[in-house]
Amino acid sequence: MNVQNQTFVVAKSRAKYNDGYMPGFGNDFETEAIEGALPIGQNSPQRCPYGLYAEQLSGTPFTAPRKSNERSWLYRMRPTVQHISDMREIDLPYWRAAPTIGESGLPLAPMRWDPAPIPDDAGTFLTGLRTISTGGDVFTQVGYAIHTYAVTQSMEDEYFWNADGELLIVPEVGRLRFFTEFGIIDAAPGEIVGIPRGMKFKVLLNGDDKARGYICENYGGAFTLPERGPIGANCMANPRDFLTPVAAFEQKDGTTCRVIVKWCGKFHASEIDHSPLDVVAWHGNYTPYKYNLRHYSPVGPIRNDHADPSIFTVLTAPSAEPGTANIDFVIFPPRWLVAEDSFRPPWYHMNIMSEFMGLIEGVYDAKPEGFVPGGMSLHNMMLPHGPDADAFYGASLKELKPEKLDNTIAFMFETRFPQQLTKYAAELPTLQVKYPDVWQPLRNHFDPNRPVWNGE
Ligand SMILES: [Fe+2]
Repeated sequence: MNVQNQTFVVAKSRAKYNDGYMPGFGNDFETEAIEGALPIGQNSPQRCPYGLYAEQLSGTPFTAPRKSNERSWLYRMRPTVQHISDMREIDLPYWRAAPTIGESGLPLAPMRWDPAPIPDDAGTFLTGLRTISTGGDVFTQVGYAIHTYAVTQSMEDEYFWNADGELLIVPEVGRLRFFTEFGIIDAAPGEIVGIPRGMKFKVLLNGDDKARGYICENYGGAFTLPERGPIGANCMANPRDFLTPVAAFEQKDGTTCRVIVKWCGKFHASEIDHSPLDVVAWHGNYTPYKYNLRHYSPVGPIRNDHADPSIFTVLTAPSAEPGTANIDFVIFPPRWLVAEDSFRPPWYHMNIMSEFMGLIEGVYDAKPEGFVPGGMSLHNMMLPHGPDADAFYGASLKELKPEKLDNTIAFMFETRFPQQLTKYAAELPTLQVKYPDVWQPLRNHFDPNRPVWNGE
C-alpha cells in the first residue's frame, strides 16, 4: 500500500479469516444487515428505523449480576408473538427430556458404543436427533440431555426454538449451516456451535449429503469460559476465537413456514405465512457462536504425572455450587506428552461427576481400540474405570520419550448428575456388550519380596 502522502493508515474493521463473524466471547456486539436499521443510543425508539419492531430476548433474569446478565435487542419485521399461532402438540419421540429414570433396563456398568450408521432417511436435524442420556430435571431448569444427530435433509421452511435449554452442537461428519435469528453460522467437524435458549434457527446441509454429531442440551445456567486461576490471562480457549455471526435475514412472505418449539420436554408446532428469521439488526451479548477446537491452547504436565482433565475444559455450565458444574465441555486435543517417570494416560478412578465421551477424529490414548470417531462411551457417577489392559501395560512398560499425540480430538460432557440412559441408547445394536471385559486381562503383580516391578 502506498502510504507516502498519508499520515496514518486505518485498519479494516476485522481480520479477514473471520469474515461474516465478530470475534469474542460474551461481548456486547452490534450488527445490522441494512445500514441504519440499528437504533443508536437507545433500545426502543418511538418508531424504529424501517418500521421494524424492537424486541428483547433475555437469557437471564433482568436482575442477574452484571457479569452473568445476558440479553439482546432484536429489530425485526414482525414481533415474535406473531410467529406462534394455533400451536399444536406434535411428537418427536426420540428427543427425550429429563428425568428418564430407570428406562434402560441395563445393569450398572461402563458402557461403550460403536458409531451408529447414518441411515439414508435419517431426516432433519430435529427428526434425526436421538437422546442418549439425561440428568436433572427439565421442569426446574437444572440438568441436561445428551443427544446424537444424523441429518440427510435440510430444514428449508421449518424453524425451531428450544425453551428448555441451550444447545452445544459438536459436528463429527459433514458440514452444516445454522441459520439463526442472529445470522448464519457455517460449521464443520472440529468446530462447535452454541445456540442459546429461545433462539430460533434452522439447520441446513452445507455441501455434504449427510451429517452426524453430538449435542449437549443444557437446561441450567449458560455455558461460559472456565476460570484460568494461576494459568493467567491466556491459553485454554481464548475468547477471541469464539465467533458470533453478523446479522442476516430472509424474507419469505406468503410461504408456509412451520415453527416448532420444545417447551418442558414437549413439542408444539404452528404454521405461519412468513419466515421467523426476519431480524434485520441486533445488538447485545446473548448470541449464538462457533469455536474451532483446533484453536484450543492446551496446558499440561511438563515434568511429571497426569493432570486432572479439568485442564482441558473449553466451556463450563456452572451450578449454584462453586466448582460443581451442571455440565462441562472438555476436549482432549492434539498435544505433546513429556512427563518423566510417569504413567501418562488417565489413572484408574471413581468420581462424583459422570462422563460421556465422544470422538471427533483420530484415536483416544486411554482406549486405543474399540473407541472410534462417532462412537461414544459412558462412565457413570461413582463407577470405576480407567485405562484398558492394553493401554495400562503399554504405558507402564514403554520407554518414555517426548511423544506427540496427533490426529485426535476426543471430548467429554462431564456432569454432576448421574446419567440416566434412554431406552433407545440401551437397545442400540452398536452397544459393545463386552466392553467391561477390556479390564479383565489386568493381572495382580503384587509380590511382597519384589518392590520394583518391571512388568513380570
Ligand atoms: Fe473418567
